[in-house]
Amino acid sequence: MDVKPPFNKTYYYRPNYLLPAIFSRNTIDGVYKNLDIRDDDTFLVTYAKSGTAWTNEMLKAILHVDDLEYLESVEFYKKLATLEFGPADHPDLVEENVFCPKSFIEDFIRDTPSPRVLSTHVLPEYMPTQFFQKKPKTLFVSRNPKDAVVSLYHWHHSIPFLSPCPWELLCEEYIKGNTVCGAVWDFYKKWSMYKQESWMLWLTFEDMKADPKQAIRKIADFIGRPLTEEQLDAVVHATSFKVMKERNERAVNPEFFFPKGHKSGESGKDEETKPKAQWQRKGQVGGWKNTFTVAQSEAFDKVYKEQMKGYEDVMYQF
Ligand code: A3P
Repeated sequence: MDVKPPFNKTYYYRPNYLLPAIFSRNTIDGVYKNLDIRDDDTFLVTYAKSGTAWTNEMLKAILHVDDLEYLESVEFYKKLATLEFGPADHPDLVEENVFCPKSFIEDFIRDTPSPRVLSTHVLPEYMPTQFFQKKPKTLFVSRNPKDAVVSLYHWHHSIPFLSPCPWELLCEEYIKGNTVCGAVWDFYKKWSMYKQESWMLWLTFEDMKADPKQAIRKIADFIGRPLTEEQLDAVVHATSFKVMKERNERAVNPEFFFPKGHKSGESGKDEETKPKAQWQRKGQVGGWKNTFTVAQSEAFDKVYKEQMKGYEDVMYQF
């Protein structure tokens, strides 16, 4: 439980598995573990900062293709919700650090009409008991782990449920497997066991960027909602970086992510790192090269290569 600043808004759910203050151990062990999975639920599994919101909106746009205005009407934080949300369960994370009402996930699970899109960042062993019995349709989105940690770095600086953290330290801890959602290699190794299952569609952020229409076609076919060419084009447009950014800037619910007392912009020194909701930040592939030093990159590669031995099919080449 010994978590040192700047990770003071995180806590260990299990050794080597760190949760941010907006994730709840009680939720994972309780309402999430006991979730009643509906036949038409779609799960979305991602490591942190790997395109969750993007894929979530693709799914919602496919499901509501005849009424894309729907995307405007869903409360933003509900689109972003992952099933492990909840108030932190740690004595040091006092009330002012609680960003998510206790009943949020309970209400969300109960009140979300079918077909539900259920996002999560957890390891397979923390999934609901019914998950491996019912085997719901599940999308897994993989992202270059170096791009993901750069995104995480900016996230640490832009959101009140994580603390600003110097890049050098975040990178060092990431290489030790000690940042939120645990070691990136554990996440990929464990989930890769299900990659070939008929109920799982394994996508990559990079393929989605290269050809979003093809990715959306795959997703739509996979969930049994094939789209016409015209509908595909509409979904591509509605989930493009620019359109999503504009929509989400309009829709953000600041009270949820920026609780009373948090002043956006308060502690940031420059545009890049000052606290603000950067839901759509850059959305690019390969940007890590502007942040990693050569030494940091080599240090990551060494550990990553060792850890991913035998899992080359889900491994990134740099
Ligand atoms: P960057 O910080 O590298 O820009 P998540 O939703 O899992 O937290 O992932 C966040 C990352 O997805 C951010 O990456 C964000 O910019 C990117 N993203 C969000 N919407 C996107 C879109 N429509 N197209 C491409 N990237 C998107």
